[in-house]
Amino acid sequence: MNDLASQPAQFTPAVIHRADYRPPAWLVPDIALDFVLDLTETRVSATLDVERNPAAQDATAPLRLNGDGIVAGAVLVDGEPHNAWAMEGDDLVIDLPGSAHQVTIETTINPTANTQLSGLYASGGLLCTQCEAEGFRRITFFPDRPDVLSCYTVTLTADKAQFPVLLSNGNPVDSGEEDDGSHWAIWHDPWPKPSYLFALVAGDLVPTRDRFTTASGRAVDLAIWVRAGDETRTGHAMRSLIASMQWDEKVYGREYDLDLFNIVAVSDFNAGAMENKGLNIFNTRYILADPDTATDGDYDAVEGVVAHEYFHNWSGNRVTCRDWFQLSLKEGFTVLRDQQFSADRGSPPVKRIEDVRILRAAQFPEDSGPLAHPIRPDSYQEISNFYTATVYNKGAEVIRMMTVLAGPERFRAGTDLYFERHDGQAATCEDFVTAIEEGAQIDLAQFRRWYEQAGTPRVDVALSHDPVSGRVTLALKQTVPPTPGQSVKQPMVIPLRTALFDRQSGTHGGEHLIVLTQGQQQFTFEGHARPPVLSINRGFSAPVAIIAPQTVEDLVFLAAHDDDPFARYEAMQQLVVQHLVAAVEGRLDDDAREAGRKAIGGALAAILADAGLDDLMRGELVMLPGEAYLAEQLNPVDPARVHAEREALKAWLGRELAPAWTALHDRCAAVPFSLDAAARGARKLKTQALVYLAAADPQGTALRAKAQYDAADNMTDRQGALMVLCGLDCPQREEALDHFHARFADNRLVIDKWFSLQAGSLHPDALAHVQALAHHPDFTLTNPNRVRALYMAMAANPAAFHAADGAGYRTIADLILALDPINGNVAARFVAPLGRWRRVEPGRAALMRAELERIAAAPRLSRDVREQVSKSLE
Ligand code: PHE
Ligand code: ZN
Repeated sequence: MNDLASQPAQFTPAVIHRADYRPPAWLVPDIALDFVLDLTETRVSATLDVERNPAAQDATAPLRLNGDGIVAGAVLVDGEPHNAWAMEGDDLVIDLPGSAHQVTIETTINPTANTQLSGLYASGGLLCTQCEAEGFRRITFFPDRPDVLSCYTVTLTADKAQFPVLLSNGNPVDSGEEDDGSHWAIWHDPWPKPSYLFALVAGDLVPTRDRFTTASGRAVDLAIWVRAGDETRTGHAMRSLIASMQWDEKVYGREYDLDLFNIVAVSDFNAGAMENKGLNIFNTRYILADPDTATDGDYDAVEGVVAHEYFHNWSGNRVTCRDWFQLSLKEGFTVLRDQQFSADRGSPPVKRIEDVRILRAAQFPEDSGPLAHPIRPDSYQEISNFYTATVYNKGAEVIRMMTVLAGPERFRAGTDLYFERHDGQAATCEDFVTAIEEGAQIDLAQFRRWYEQAGTPRVDVALSHDPVSGRVTLALKQTVPPTPGQSVKQPMVIPLRTALFDRQSGTHGGEHLIVLTQGQQQFTFEGHARPPVLSINRGFSAPVAIIAPQTVEDLVFLAAHDDDPFARYEAMQQLVVQHLVAAVEGRLDDDAREAGRKAIGGALAAILADAGLDDLMRGELVMLPGEAYLAEQLNPVDPARVHAEREALKAWLGRELAPAWTALHDRCAAVPFSLDAAARGARKLKTQALVYLAAADPQGTALRAKAQYDAADNMTDRQGALMVLCGLDCPQREEALDHFHARFADNRLVIDKWFSLQAGSLHPDALAHVQALAHHPDFTLTNPNRVRALYMAMAANPAAFHAADGAGYRTIADLILALDPINGNVAARFVAPLGRWRRVEPGRAALMRAELERIAAAPRLSRDVREQVSKSLE
């Protein structure tokens, strides 16, 4: 029992259980919404056609309409004032006899006071909405659950000078002007949708327009709406949108279904973007890009998020979720779809490596900590806390395994059946699995455990070879670790793409898909005269941790020879992980340390010299494993030792291979700017060379980095150089930072970079810099991007966050307490880094825990923060 549970009953948070799902008592086939928009006083009139749900369990239940912080001005039933209603908490409950009525409710809201950015809010003079997951109830009273689907007709009225553009979902029906300076627009969305997909935008916005013709010949008008001045930076987003529309037709057979597709970019946004039907609303950071202000990584992120939101039109909107426990139904599948799209647009192996790196850095720690949950959770207190790397990224991995098991054609037959069968419905993860099972004709009975069990499975591998028979035996053992509420686990279905290499020829006789289904299982392979080198989980075919007895020689071999690019990357990572883990654990004497470093240095030198590699891939192979992933291999972990050992290795490699890094930097610096893969690869390596060189020779590299900064004609080179300079104690650091700030003072997204680079830097005073930057005139707690730029970068900077005296933990806890009353949703995201205390060495663990307890003791906390903090202390 934690402290919270002992507080008075009104503090005991309600826990929502998946098993308690009941169909809604009433349906709302149609809704008419009438908005008179104003920054501080918006009037909303909602008219709901309600009818009893024939599938409801209680045929006499009252109509329950959710609200959150709103007051009903008037309630009419069938046009007459109605008194038989009552407030139950935030919900408005109306006693209604009979089976069909029209209910009208009026509310008044203040968008400017809405700092939570959920519901209707103001952002830099414009008005916009964010309704997923439960924001619609902050606008009007409604059964705010995804299994209530309605046709929306929306009337927007506003001052024409202040809000010249009025947008909502679907198609424009009519518009006009009044004599008092106001104007109005009526929108109708013919596709029934849940309330979380409702959106409106009103403001002074400029469109970038294009047009797309679908495979069946429907002409679709496309528009991306941004603030005046930003329209020069929408080209990449528009190209990405058009490419996404084409791709979804070709790969999944999915066409767009309205005459219009609008995207609006806003500066104040809790998440990345939102798939509202026909009116996606984006964080500006995933729309605006040009070479001067956006890095290559930003370009990829824009492309990926534009695609993601577009793909939701089918995986999310046409087929939506029955309840929020099914979130991975739309998110896991849509992440997989955007990953496949980005892979097709660029380099598939590089994309795969990037996605696995994100999974390991963000999802593996979640799965091994107090907030671990299955991709389909069983309970929650606040659904906003479940928009996680587990639901999204592990969710995508689980569906990706279905593609591995079924093969692409049969998987497509499965998704075709899914879309056909559930179009227009609010479906479940079970519906999805059943459709894949039937359409692809594969058995997923045991596979369903991936939806039920949390925790990253671990697979231990033993390989034995019999020289007489030439037989190789792989003995595999899987363990799924205990997670909160799940102490005992059942074996999973784990598909492992595997190859056995012959050491002499450097080749293998074909890849095998072995499917591990039992706790322990053996697989045999014939015809091996010599003990082979094992290449397993190629392409990262399963989201598991492999513990295989690979020698340094085996890993060096695979890093140089494996024909699966992911496996090459993996061998390189494993080589470094094994070495650093041994170093951190104090298992290396001087000779062993020297031998380990030499092996890594030799493998790296071979990669730098390998003419068969493209630079984008080379850039992946030379990257050291991150500290978060290294920390996962150690329990408990001393983050200071991980940091010190990793930095020491980096410095050694920088010194040992200095001529190669310098030559690489010179070669890449000579490649002129373009967005093609070769030039992007050169930019990636240019900064990586600086990173190694800076670790070995800070002073000399400060000059080189400053020269890269000064010569940069694009943000990738500029940001890379500034990132390296930020970590060094040198005069060039201040010079470049000041220059950067002055040059981009009027570009909020670039100033976000200026904050992040300092907060994430290797500089020994990074934490003090963060504390000072919190008082910078450009810093504000009301803009989520700015908050994340400063504090997420710091929480992800191990040396700063894990400062031995606990000052990093205190800084994050102070932030959570200060931000919570403004924006609980964003504040709650900062709890997880503190929540990992149980896996950290005892001294720091106590400091982390103390900060969590300090937060828990606050008199008022949002439901968001309270859930995360109490679970982190349990
Ligand atoms: N549904 C959005 C997406 O993944 C994410 C989101 C969730 C945005 C909640 C805002 C609020 O595309
Ligand atoms: Zn999504």
